Amino acid sequence: FHLDIDASETDKGIYPYYMLKEVDEQAIVARTLSQYYFDDEGQVQNIAPEIIEAMQAADRIYIVAAGTSYHAGLVGQRYFEQWTQTPTEVHISSEFAYEQPLLSKKPFFIFLSQSGETADSREVLDNITKQGYPTLTIANVMNSTLTREADFALPLLAGPEIAVASTKAYTAQIIVTAILAAAVGHTPFDLKNELAKVAVEMQVIIDQKDTFKSIAESALKHRRSAFYIGRGLDAAVAVEAALKLKEISYVQTEGFAAGELKHGTISLIEEGTPIFALLTQAKTAGLVRGEIAQVAARGANTVIIAAKTLAKKDDSFVLPGVNELLMPLLTVIPAQLIAYYATLDRGLDVDRPRNLAKSVTVQ
Ligand code: G6P
Repeated sequence: FHLDIDASETDKGIYPYYMLKEVDEQAIVARTLSQYYFDDEGQVQNIAPEIIEAMQAADRIYIVAAGTSYHAGLVGQRYFEQWTQTPTEVHISSEFAYEQPLLSKKPFFIFLSQSGETADSREVLDNITKQGYPTLTIANVMNSTLTREADFALPLLAGPEIAVASTKAYTAQIIVTAILAAAVGHTPFDLKNELAKVAVEMQVIIDQKDTFKSIAESALKHRRSAFYIGRGLDAAVAVEAALKLKEISYVQTEGFAAGELKHGTISLIEEGTPIFALLTQAKTAGLVRGEIAQVAARGANTVIIAAKTLAKKDDSFVLPGVNELLMPLLTVIPAQLIAYYATLDRGLDVDRPRNLAKSVTVQ
């Protein structure tokens, strides 16, 4: 497919890899998005009223996506449920295409995609269009098939993403779904303000690259497997964090809900097994601390990434405090940078992992 972009934006410039450039750009993208979608009074703008009306008329929202975009959907789901009070399901497009679940009476479909060309998602959009349900694509590449063929489209405005491992498209998807949910329903806090704060804090984290380089080198050197755990929104980020690490460094990594450890995975813990624990959600922080203690007792090398309000003195990295629901925008950055540095440390090509394509246009 064709990317309609300015050549200078696709230049690596001073960066050794696109991935690092794109991780760095996330604070700028966050700032742009928070301004693009809001007017001076903090009211959401630039979202067609038809989209908002169609979503308000829906009794259920279905988010359909693949890969990292699916993981962004797991976060976006919370915003639709909490701020619009509409039950929301997230589905993997390659599954939904051949096992369509029983739909509600008035479904509304959101397709999340970086490229807008993923064949699995296109297949679902075709099926849903034939059934006559309203569809919206949120994508980075506008004028792509998914944006053209859906009833509505919203841009991610993340700028070209070249590295196979998706970074800024993920954070942009989370931001746009949050803004959309706020437009359809309402947030109990000032989202525009909070997103501006997130952009500042993202930069603060991005500026601490040396910390993530040393975490990556000490926790992952010579390691063949690793785990990311968390509960609630941290479980959603854990699956994305695991995907980042495994897809470029080839360290076999599993990300999952921390409460599931005791139902099987804990048997894999050996002396030195790296366990990255994400801890940003107050209501489950005590439970996750307990799970960390259990794996540590079995020899795991725990790397704790915790929100400021929940952090303890020996934690590996303390994330700045923003609204809990927006924490995934910060939590994912250490994971992206740990994946980046672990891959560099192994002497691998960060931008072009084996067997993978940036856009998968076959089913
Ligand atoms: C490929 C890419 C992933 C991406 C997925 C979905 O597998 O390597 O980074 O998340 O496709 O792509 P999309 O363009 O629909 O977001």
